[in-house]
Order: sequence, then C-alpha cells, then structure tokens
Amino acid sequence: MNILILGGGGREHSLAWAVLQNPKCDRLIVAPGNAGIAEIADCATLNIEDGGAVATFAEENAIDLVIIGPEAPLAAGVSDRLRATGIAVFGPSWAAAQLEASKAFTKRICDAAQVPTARYGHFTDAAAARAYVEAQGAPIVIKADGLAAGKGVIIAQTKAEALSAVDDMFGGSFGTAGAEVVIEEFMTGEEASFFVLCDGETAVPLGTAQDHKRVGEGDTGPNTGGMGAYSPAPVMTDAVITATLDRIVKPTLAEMVRQGTPYQGVLFVGLMIEDGNPRLVEYNVRFGDPECQALMLRLGAQVLDLIQACAEGRLAEAQVNWAEDHAMTVVLAARGYPGSYEKGSVIGGLDALPADSRNMVFHAGTARSGGDVVASGGRVLAVTARAESLQAARDAAYEMVNRIDWAEGFYRRDIGWRALTAG
Ligand code: AMP
Ligand code: GLY
Repeated sequence: MNILILGGGGREHSLAWAVLQNPKCDRLIVAPGNAGIAEIADCATLNIEDGGAVATFAEENAIDLVIIGPEAPLAAGVSDRLRATGIAVFGPSWAAAQLEASKAFTKRICDAAQVPTARYGHFTDAAAARAYVEAQGAPIVIKADGLAAGKGVIIAQTKAEALSAVDDMFGGSFGTAGAEVVIEEFMTGEEASFFVLCDGETAVPLGTAQDHKRVGEGDTGPNTGGMGAYSPAPVMTDAVITATLDRIVKPTLAEMVRQGTPYQGVLFVGLMIEDGNPRLVEYNVRFGDPECQALMLRLGAQVLDLIQACAEGRLAEAQVNWAEDHAMTVVLAARGYPGSYEKGSVIGGLDALPADSRNMVFHAGTARSGGDVVASGGRVLAVTARAESLQAARDAAYEMVNRIDWAEGFYRRDIGWRALTAG
C-alpha cells in the first residue's frame, strides 16, 4: 500500500521507520519530512494544514492511507477532508480533535462522563477569572483555552502570579487561544502518558511513557516540547492502567460517541497519578514527541497493522504484541532552545552510528546542506535505544549521544532519573 505521513519531526521519523519495517508498505511519502526521513522515504513539499491540497496530493499519488502526525492539521480539519474524498486516514475529525484544541471542551466532556480531573472554572472575561483566583488561592493553574504550542499553561505559585497570568491571557498575549481561559486546581502526584488507539468503538492500549518537559537537569527551567522520554512508565502498573481505562478513557470515548463525534486515532492521555489514583491532566489527539520515538522502536512493524485497523474500524480484531523491553529517547537540541537559537550548524558523527531495531537516531529539525546534515530547528535529534532494562536502554542511548559531534547542541544527562532512582 501507498502511505503518506504528514509532519517532519522526530515523531514522524519514528512513524516512518516503523511503517517501513512492514512489508505491506509499498511506497512511503512524508510531507514535509526532514534530512533523516529523506534517507528512508520520499519527501514532498505540501501545505499540510490545507485539507484540499493534501487530498489532491493523495489522489495524484494513489495514496491508500494518510497518517497525520501533528495536531495542527487535525485542528484544521484535514482528516475530514480526506475522509470525504474516500481516503483512509489515521487521525480524528475536526470535531473530535477539540479534545486537544479546546481545554474547555475537554472539561465539559469530563463533566458529562464523570472523568476524574482537576476542579476548574471556565472564563471569557478577566474580572470573573480574577474573582475565581481570589477565591481559590494558590498554587493554581491558568490555561489558555486554545492551542498555544505547549506554552498556554501557567502554574502559578502565588495569587499575584495567577492574577498577572489572567491579565496576560485576556490581554492577548496568547492571541485567540487566550480569548477563553480555564483555571484549574493544582494537582500533585506523578505524571505519565498513556497511548490508546481508538476506532470510534474499540479502544486498544498501545503503551505508556514518561517525558521530561523542562529544559534543565533535575526538571528545572522553562518548558519545552520534551527533552527525552522512556517507555514503559513504571508508575503505570496494571492496576493504574485498568483504572485509567475504566474511569477515564472508556467513559470519554462513550461520551464522544453519544455526542455524535466518535474519536478515531491515537488518544494521548496525560495523567497525574497519586496513591494509585489516576486523574486526567489533558488529552492530546496525536502521539507525543518524543514519547512516540520510544514507543515506535518497541513496537516496530506491527504499528502499520494497528494504524490500518484503526483507520478501517477493525480494532476489535487487533492485537498488540509487547516485548518485555524498555526504550529511552534523549533529545539533542540547539543551544538557546526553547528560546532563540541558530540554524545551520553541521552535525557530525551520525554515519558511524548503528541504525537497527534497537538503536536509532531519529531526526527532528534537520536539513541537508551539500553533503552535511545541519540543524534546522530547536529540537534536532531524538537518540533512541531499546534494551531489556531501562538502565541498559539509557546506557545505549547515551553511548550514541556521546558519539555525535555537534558543539552547537546540548542535551540533558538525566533522562529517566525518576524511574531509575525509584527502581
Ligand atoms: P497541558 O498543556 O494541559 O498538558 O499542561 C502542561 C503541563 O502543565 C502538564 O504536563 C503538567 O505538568 C502541568 N499541569 C497542567 N495542568 C495541571 C494541573 N491541574 N495540576 C498540576 N499540573 C498541571
Ligand atoms: N512530549 C509532549 C507532547 O508531545 O505533547
């Protein structure tokens, strides 16, 4: 079959790699892709948020299945346009993608389905939001309603900080994403991510992971897209997984069906777990990046069968075969990220690294310049290894990191610290 993947990050490189392990894949095109993806698939230039352009491209290239990596095309309704054209697509409809695109939408679903989550208020004007903060006190969490590239969440330690975040959001510092604001109870516990495939009816657990969002070691400094991840997450015991499915995932999916907007695709369930009790932090309507890289290396070729079953509504027949293994991914980012950074520096040492089912350097923001691979983004490489223990996966990943020659980059040396010290 002919497959088109939309996106060009480390997540999409790992999806492309997994799909290509499966002999069912005849041709793979990735739009826009990156330098690493270009080594294994055709890359195309395409406005991936323009549903009409994607549908035309898919028809011209006899594409059988489109896999949508990032949230932006989903929030732009690209999957609806493809389905209307009769092309199989992995990714939720515009309406179901509101689970990520609007925090107020998700909170209303949680209310209707009695999903455990943080207490909250939803506001469309600053005065009412300020009054809520005054009444609740701090710590408290202020969230822009819409998509804000991971930057729309302020954890305020003091009332003053919370009030100034409210003023900033209503003052337009997050654009239209901040026209509505959700204010939440600050939850304590340990965070983990749970990935579930859904075909509208059936939910199949795909795996668990934890990522490190902060830029600095010890989980300090500003938030990023994610500086590293590992799978599985030790905190996601069988009991916690069962509780999450029963109390959070299944009621949510049933409510989406009841509202006439069934969810199809991967549901990324962000959890806070305290004393074995999971509560929902947020949903995303796509794989996490870099969590995806760790999951894909563990799952390999079966990913395409699962994605296809999901897109065709056949998940009830599907099975996930898990090895008892662990994967870790360490992100190399350009110095200055998540603030401003330079592009164009040459990355050396990549050719000498292994590339197999246990060790992969997935590319994120990379491009080719002559014969060189150069940095072209903030997060640049996701170095991923799989092994029989988390410690062994960690050692293998850092061994590869140490062989990469890129003075303009940096990475955290403590990915997995929580799981490794607990274990
Ligand atoms: P979100 O964009 O909703 O995932 O929020 C980003 C991050 O902020 C989460 O991964 C958590 O670390 C943190 N966070 C969000 N909401 C809460 C909450 N109610 N209590 C504690 N931490 C939160
Ligand atoms: N790594 C977190 C995310 O993809 O949202």
